[in-house]
Amino acid sequence: MQHGAEPWRVKVVEPISLPDKDTRRRRLEEAGYNVFAIPAADIFIDLLTDSGTSAMSQNQWAGLMVGDESYAGARNFYNFQETVQEITGLPFVIPTHQGRVAENLLFTTLVKPGMRVPSNSHFDTTRANIEVHGGEAADLVIAEGRDPDADHPFKGNIDLGRLDAFLKENGRDHVPIAMLTITNNSGGGQPVSLANIRGMAEVCRRHGVPFFLDACRFAENAWFIKQREPGQGHRSVPEIVADMFHAADGCTMSAKKDGLANIGGFIAMRDQGLFEKLKNMLILIEGFPTYGGLAGRDLEAVARGLREVLDERYLQFRVGQVQAFWEHLDRRGVPMIRPPGGHAVYLDARRFLPHLAQEDYPAQALTVALYLDGGVRGVEIGGVMFGKTDPQTGTAVWPQLELVRLAIPRRVYTNTHLEYVAEVIERLYANRAAVGGLRMVYAAEVLRHFTARFEPLSPARPAAPPADQV
Ligand code: F0G
Repeated sequence: MQHGAEPWRVKVVEPISLPDKDTRRRRLEEAGYNVFAIPAADIFIDLLTDSGTSAMSQNQWAGLMVGDESYAGARNFYNFQETVQEITGLPFVIPTHQGRVAENLLFTTLVKPGMRVPSNSHFDTTRANIEVHGGEAADLVIAEGRDPDADHPFKGNIDLGRLDAFLKENGRDHVPIAMLTITNNSGGGQPVSLANIRGMAEVCRRHGVPFFLDACRFAENAWFIKQREPGQGHRSVPEIVADMFHAADGCTMSAKKDGLANIGGFIAMRDQGLFEKLKNMLILIEGFPTYGGLAGRDLEAVARGLREVLDERYLQFRVGQVQAFWEHLDRRGVPMIRPPGGHAVYLDARRFLPHLAQEDYPAQALTVALYLDGGVRGVEIGGVMFGKTDPQTGTAVWPQLELVRLAIPRRVYTNTHLEYVAEVIERLYANRAAVGGLRMVYAAEVLRHFTARFEPLSPARPAAPPADQV
């Protein structure tokens, strides 16, 4: 086993069970074939997200007991603040209850209609928080990052040439800030190199545009830098992390990922003027600046989690577990985004189910099949999430990729759990011609993937079995 055994042992267990197939079929019908509407108790292995799903350590649980629930100046805030300052080197820290509130504070303050914000790839909530203020979110990831088959050690890198041209064209008056998502979640959880982070800082400085990291998975990104970037292998993860943040003017953070906590986030920065503005806004929407919508005990759990996540034995196991799961599937020819990302494996549903047209929602169909066959929950990232109807022409506009993301919660599932999931996928792949498409029968105006309802297409569209069908 390249990545070694789990660097922890289990002290508390949470029972999970696989409902029988009739129950699973019924749950799908009741849920309108949308796995978001299935009660978690009826899921066997839940790979919907790696966000807020981590198992906390004994040290974090112990931290809950020293929670100070004072309205102002709780001791946990000072520990939290000092931890963030020490790890990131950013002096001004504002706690929030999750990442999107940090984004909301930032973009409400900076973005005016007509402005544009570049990134490698914006995450949905980042994009939505920019667009809601009339701004435009621009994705400038390198060409390899848009090709699911391209092998590149840092497929999350931003295209520095395009960024430079973008900033020249739009000017600092129209670009209030530039973001960089590490690792690049919307692009397959792919890392960004230290050279690229520094390159982006240099381009932004030249154009006078502030540069913020969307740092949700900063420790996983640092581990990839240590593994893959020339000249970084001998350096410690905290040193690499310090260099990553040193290049930036600030960051937004969801501590539900690399904070190893179930709730929490923050925004940190160097500019005191901006800090004062955001702090006033925080009081309006989250709470007093020393708790930011969190209980004191939650601040403590985040502070302790942020230190633990830098443990290299943890990161080696974490990233290694995701990689081993991906390699297991790759050996069986299962089509996926390559190479594996830090927190998830992304199945390529158009190639998995080539007999389905995009209007049959292949990624949703695969998500449904995974639950029906194995009680496994993943998330559709395809036509349901990103498909739209053009308001002018009334025609459907489809995204390029139809993916199913299987996100691995941190310190939650053992390798045996993931072997089980791999077997479910393998079996499904062998019988893929039997998977039918879906018809959408209800969709909300915005963020429709959470509540959309479907019906199976019946009879299933006649399928030419794939040439290599077994
Ligand atoms: N940025 C990135 C890159 C994210 O992946 C997320 C959340 C956020 C910001 C927002 O953070 O949820 O704490 O408000 N991603 C989760 C996911 C929801 O499943 O990928 P939040």
